[in-house]
Amino acid sequence: SGAFTFDPGFMSTAACKSSITYIDGDKGELMYRGYPIANLAENCNFLETCYLLKNGELPNKVQYDEFEGTVRKHTMVHEQLTRLYQGFRRDAHPMAILVGVVGALSAYYQDSLDISNPEHRNIAAIRLIAKMPTIVAMAYKYTVGQPFMFPRNDLGYAENFLHMMFATPCEEYKPNPVLARALDRILILHADHEQNASTSTVRLSGSSGANPFACIAAGIACLWGPAHGGANEACLVMLEDIMQQGGVEKIGEFIAKVKDKNSGVKLMGFGHRVYKNYDPRATLMRETCHEVLSELGLQDDPMFKLAMALEKIALEDEYFVSRKLYPNVDFYSGIVQKAMGIPVPLFTGIFALARTIGWIAQWNEMIGDPEQKIGRPRQLYTGATPRSVTPMSLR
Ligand code: CMC
Repeated sequence: SGAFTFDPGFMSTAACKSSITYIDGDKGELMYRGYPIANLAENCNFLETCYLLKNGELPNKVQYDEFEGTVRKHTMVHEQLTRLYQGFRRDAHPMAILVGVVGALSAYYQDSLDISNPEHRNIAAIRLIAKMPTIVAMAYKYTVGQPFMFPRNDLGYAENFLHMMFATPCEEYKPNPVLARALDRILILHADHEQNASTSTVRLSGSSGANPFACIAAGIACLWGPAHGGANEACLVMLEDIMQQGGVEKIGEFIAKVKDKNSGVKLMGFGHRVYKNYDPRATLMRETCHEVLSELGLQDDPMFKLAMALEKIALEDEYFVSRKLYPNVDFYSGIVQKAMGIPVPLFTGIFALARTIGWIAQWNEMIGDPEQKIGRPRQLYTGATPRSVTPMSLR
């Protein structure tokens, strides 16, 4: 039937109106609520960014203190939820755990599931922002067999996450301010990116009236895919591979393979579908990356030397320059997280932690939109024409 527009991948369909995030890929622009991403990353912290995305405006001091105080109050998870982790295999991928645990929040916080009640929506949002660091850190602790660390509410948002990741009951972790700031910046840069696959998944799930915890779990499931949130993990896997084959000396060989179209090998962490001139997030993350490597004295570490050598080649080599293939945000965020000691399989979990606020803001916007309808794409049917069942004995 020609009644519908065929648009696989929604390449030319705007599924909603939104006033949250603006992207201009050709100009390399990304704005949250009208603020250029660099302006925000240089002047605000992640919680201010959360407030902005959620409420539309940056908080004043009183509003910020109140918001931060409320978030702090909700950082603990229900004690019964800690038992849920015990049901997972220790070698489970952290994203598998996150999909399950975040979905299960709707079983623990039943007093925030009425989506027609703005107070319920608000408290569900606060709970998600506050508990995601705890839930992600617990997924890590569980897989390495260490006891869960309670959140420490005297610490900032990023510092507290590092504490829950790296402290043990016998050893305090003193969060390094350079690393905490780097993590905070990763969170800001990944907080929202308009109607990407996981955000569209959250909106589509929410359009049926599903509760916010279930919708965010759906977003996490989508983010897990290697074509979406898995890129920084893929980048580190690539670097580790080249290291195993001999490191910096093998770059030439590897780049030759990348240029050979029959090899199917890509330089992970390079190129972007939307940003064809540069990725504004990558510029900021590059700065942070060099800060972190120098703070930790890792400039001479063979793996990071390899990363920097790849960056140099890609910025100078004709193949990459002519195709406008620049390092993207995930190239640098992967290196930063690796340098901080965050295990590679947890990278996508940190992306989920950052993107939770974007998902919530988009979900809230949708719920409040009078034009909102249940998401229900149509199809062009290509199956069999009408026919009758043949009895099984004759099939
Ligand atoms: N390494 C080598 N060649 C590449 C790469 C790469 N990473 N990316 C694109 N090319 C080549 C591609 O082969 C094509 O060459 P030719 O014109 O000779 O056929 C040309 O560059 C144009 O590429 P394209 O496939 O049309 O670009 P695209 O917009 O479809 O793909 C991309 C964008 C991000 C999927 C791709 O660049 C890629 O696979 N990059 C590696 C994976 C990666 O880092 N992904 C993270 C993206 S940022 C995260 C986020 O925002 O969610």
